[in-house]
Amino acid sequence: MDFVTRRLLKSDIPAIIELTKKTWGGHDHLPLIIGSWLTNRQCHPMVLELKGEVVAVANLKAIDNELTGWMEGLRVHPKVREKGLAKYMTNQIVETASEIGFKRIRLVTATENPAPRKLALSVGMNIIDKYSIFWKRYGRGIKWIKDDESISRIDRSLVLGFIKSNPELFPTNSLVHHWDVFEANQENISLISEEATFFISNSVHGRGLSWGFKHDTRQGSEWCFSVYASSPDVFESTLHFHLKQAREHDLKDMLCIHQPEFNESYSKVKWLKRRGHEIGLLLFERVL
Ligand SMILES: CC(C)(COP(=O)(O)OP(=O)(O)OC[C@H]1O[C@@H](n2cnc3c(N)ncnc32)[C@H](O)[C@@H]1OP(=O)(O)O)[C@@H](O)C(=O)NCCC(=O)NCCS
Repeated sequence: MDFVTRRLLKSDIPAIIELTKKTWGGHDHLPLIIGSWLTNRQCHPMVLELKGEVVAVANLKAIDNELTGWMEGLRVHPKVREKGLAKYMTNQIVETASEIGFKRIRLVTATENPAPRKLALSVGMNIIDKYSIFWKRYGRGIKWIKDDESISRIDRSLVLGFIKSNPELFPTNSLVHHWDVFEANQENISLISEEATFFISNSVHGRGLSWGFKHDTRQGSEWCFSVYASSPDVFESTLHFHLKQAREHDLKDMLCIHQPEFNESYSKVKWLKRRGHEIGLLLFERVL
């Protein structure tokens, strides 16, 4: 095939927005972030042109104090899929990451999405962590009550200390924040706290760290939160707490990211038995 890869230009954006329209039923968040790839000096966005037409895009972003090359936003136009273009882009990105000198490359992808998994494995990446995600819209009359008295706001300057004293909660020393995964260090905690508020739980039932923020999507706003908990009890209290946070922010939609071991709580908590949508998320890594 007659194709070339090159750096993303501002003039490519309309073509890319067009190609994302059919991705994930029109729920693709890429149109909301692609503009920042042009201005953020940590980003190395790439497009693939086939016979002069932009048909694929991907980004490589320096994170974790330039330690990690974060691979994100890989999209191929539906009309040219399954022809090896994503594989070519992925190889190009890994080559760029090596040239830049990153110590490792990382990406997240949905468990349910076979192509990115194959692509990650094909460039020698391995799964190092897993997360579960569910979306839930709540109605007015939720009767579920769970004690969440042990949960309180924590200043960002104290979050790293909590993480360091609870290493079993953070086996890869990473924090999953929406579709990003950051090394747990003070710079990244400060970055997350620019939009999110952190909370801890410390009780006889166990310990937990969570944070939440109002996330604007093309369909509206949602309360997006991540939970790390040491027991189902702490997990469920934290869920209850964030349900109240969503209400306080007048947000009816919630997106919860948590450790997969708490999927069992879905059947125990009546309110959670029906969920809007759910996926598993895999964190892939290759040390370069
Ligand atoms: C995922 C995506 C980028 C793949 O692009 P592509 O150009 O079709 O992929 P390739 O042709 O290079 O195929 C890569 C591998 O995935 C496999 N594959 C591609 N589409 C597949 C599908 N729908 N189901 C199962 N396997 C698939 C290919 O067979 C190939 O595997 P192989 O190396 O074992 O032969 C494209 O489908 C897309 O844009 N999807 C929507 C957005 C998305 O999911 N992005 C990834 C986010 S992490």
